[in-house]
Amino acid sequence: MILVTGGAGFIGANFVLDWFRQGSEPVVNVDKLTYAGNATTLAPLSADERHIFAHIDICDAAALAALFARHRPRAVVHFAAESHVDRSIRGPGEFVQTNVVGTFMLLEAARAYWNELDAGEKAAFRFLHISTDEVFGSLEPDDPPFNERTAYAPNSPYSASKAASDHFVRAYHHTYGLPTLTTNCSNNYGPYQFPEKLIPLSITRAIQGEKLPVYGDGKNVRDWLYVGDHCAAIRTVLERGVVGRTYNIGGWNEKTNIDVVRTICDVLDELRPATSGGCYAEQIEFVKDRPGHDRRYAIDASLIERELGWRPAETFETGIRKTVAWYLDNAGWVDGVTSGSYRDWLDTHYARSN
Ligand code: NAD
Ligand code: DAU
Repeated sequence: MILVTGGAGFIGANFVLDWFRQGSEPVVNVDKLTYAGNATTLAPLSADERHIFAHIDICDAAALAALFARHRPRAVVHFAAESHVDRSIRGPGEFVQTNVVGTFMLLEAARAYWNELDAGEKAAFRFLHISTDEVFGSLEPDDPPFNERTAYAPNSPYSASKAASDHFVRAYHHTYGLPTLTTNCSNNYGPYQFPEKLIPLSITRAIQGEKLPVYGDGKNVRDWLYVGDHCAAIRTVLERGVVGRTYNIGGWNEKTNIDVVRTICDVLDELRPATSGGCYAEQIEFVKDRPGHDRRYAIDASLIERELGWRPAETFETGIRKTVAWYLDNAGWVDGVTSGSYRDWLDTHYARSN
């Protein structure tokens, strides 16, 4: 049994669905179901006894302690977080609460449980913390990519909260010996991503005939990682990562935002030509920049390749085609999110108890 947090979110749900495609070890999936948590993504697992869903806030110490005692996981994979930079600028409080306090509460629950294990179970236990390249700050055009020795320099409330959580994870290994691992990855894209992030937002707005907002001059650079590749990397680190270490995970795909949006438009022109007869790129609109907008992120993913043998299978070109096609083929999932009906699951299951 492994314990996953945030497994109803974008990467967490991809990870859980993928986990059951690769093997049969049960998962207890801890999720608060914020606006970003979508239980309908997990519908294929609704009759699967190996998947136990626990509607829990990671800040709830008592609920976490009960969960560890009941399910006795051999590992924790911690995805749960507030993840959207623009939201962190508008309201940083939730980011401190979930990303910092929540991670601390989870570490405390894991430590108390781990302390009671026998020597063999203690040595085998893993706490894998999923973090971001944004903790390293912003690169100049000629800087080398971030590696595992790059100093932390978080610039947004989101990245500051993730940096704080990384430091707590590090401290729990150093001070208490908890067998932790941390991964810092670049921008993910792929199926089931909430359409507030650049790629799903651009795809869904383009199809609806709406403007495609590009911040500033569109020349900010992100390093794109297909979510399926990320899930494979996480499984690799969980199985073979050296305890106490951090691993950078990236797709070797640096792109400017304007190139990303233009590529999406080109793929859509091919797969779903606009009914107006025009090109989707005509919908692009440059808008006011994000405050404190980091100029460039890039990941050097050579350590994980050298030491653990992982490298991404997708190029940006193959991954973006799959992603656009997925959003076109899954209009029901998109409609559920845009109409808000994905929240009905929560109301149906929890209206009386919560
Ligand atoms: P997401 O916003 O799609 O999902 C987050 C999930 O966490 C949701 O299901 C939400 O309900 C849950 N959650 C939030 N607060 C919670 C709480 N207090 N208790 C329990 N559950 C809670 O996020 P994502 O994009 O899937 O990111 C997952 C992790 O990966 C995050 O830690 C994020 O910082 C990190 N990350 C994401 C990216 C990316 O490009 N998406 C890149 C690097 C790192
Ligand atoms: O680098 C990893 C991080 O990537 C993760 O830690 C975060 O959880 C994840 O949200 C993501 O952060 P970004 O801020 O890079 O992602 P976002 O999709 O919000 O924006 C990507 C780039 O596109 C960024 O430079 C801002 C820009 N952008 C974004 C939106 C939503 C636009 O130009 N227009 C938009 O409408």
